[in-house]
Amino acid sequence: MKSPKILLLGKNGQVGWELQRSLAALGSLTALDRHSTDYCGDLSNLDGIADTVRRLQPDIIVNAAAHTAVDRAESESELAHTLNALAPGVLAAEAEKLGAWLVHYSTDYVFDGSGNLPWQESDVPAPLSVYGRSKLEGEQRIQAANARHLIFRTSWVYAARGGNFAKTMLRLAKEREQLTVIDDQTGAPTGAELLADVTALALRSAFSAPSLAGIYHLAASGETTWHGYAQTVLAHAQQAGIALKAGPEAVVAVPTTAFPTPAQRPLNSRLDTRKLQAAFGLTLPNWQVGVARMLNETLTP
Ligand SMILES: NC(=O)c1ccc[n+]([C@@H]2O[C@H](COP(=O)([O-])OP(=O)(O)OC[C@H]3O[C@@H](n4cnc5c(N)ncnc54)[C@H](OP(=O)(O)O)[C@@H]3O)[C@@H](O)[C@H]2O)c1
Repeated sequence: MKSPKILLLGKNGQVGWELQRSLAALGSLTALDRHSTDYCGDLSNLDGIADTVRRLQPDIIVNAAAHTAVDRAESESELAHTLNALAPGVLAAEAEKLGAWLVHYSTDYVFDGSGNLPWQESDVPAPLSVYGRSKLEGEQRIQAANARHLIFRTSWVYAARGGNFAKTMLRLAKEREQLTVIDDQTGAPTGAELLADVTALALRSAFSAPSLAGIYHLAASGETTWHGYAQTVLAHAQQAGIALKAGPEAVVAVPTTAFPTPAQRPLNSRLDTRKLQAAFGLTLPNWQVGVARMLNETLTP
């Protein structure tokens, strides 16, 4: 395809920000957020986003916008449903009319977290939270609309820009002599950078092979717990010469029940990414590679 027109929604989120970089090389990019004025980029305005697609006539729509506040979604179920379920359905219906591709992101939270095997795309979802249910309905609406789509289910997303779990651990380890972190949720921290790069690579392949359309699990390789993640972060900081009151040995492991939250989270967030790696000929790096890179950026004065 010659220089496709690309519409990106949610340009200032963790993934959206990185997509502005990775998609720019693929075609001519219009990137919107909810405050955009020339075109509506507000997912709560369903007519507005449909109008944006009709006016722009993109070849590719990439939706990085979502209601991602998992706990708040429990008390904002209507808004979460509009943003995470209805809006992707509208985008898919408009994409279908144009013959455009729709790229969308979903989550490990569509699963109930039982067992300890990595979830495959064919496993039956059973979300535990409003957020998970709204994201699952978004997937289903996209599939039902029959648009050419790539849905990437990912997990534990972080970015160098803005706040993240690693930065919080670093701050707390400078202030306190002991940290308490959950050790019974398992998954793979996945960089927004990696998601954006894989999205662009997958789109390039999918242009010439529409049969690649579908749902894929996309996360960094390997696995850890939040406790292991925290220990890795602090060990890295110590090696970089950062003075900490709490080192990796001072991270105390506790169960999820020690920190009650409005939304229930899955204990097993492992995602089996073999389908994606085989379909697109990609190798997903270990989670520690991206975290080390993000920390190097964060720790460099
Ligand atoms: N973060 C994770 O750990 C994680 C895990 C699995 C899957 N995912 C999925 O990955 C995708 C990207 O997530 P992310 O980590 O990049 O999340 P994020 O940083 O929270 O970004 C979400 C973006 O959506 C925007 N948004 C919120 N309400 C909107 C509205 N009404 N109209 C338009 N935009 C709106 C936000 O804008 P404001 O900044 O203005 O609020 C924000 O820029 C999402 O589909 C998410 O469900 C994320």
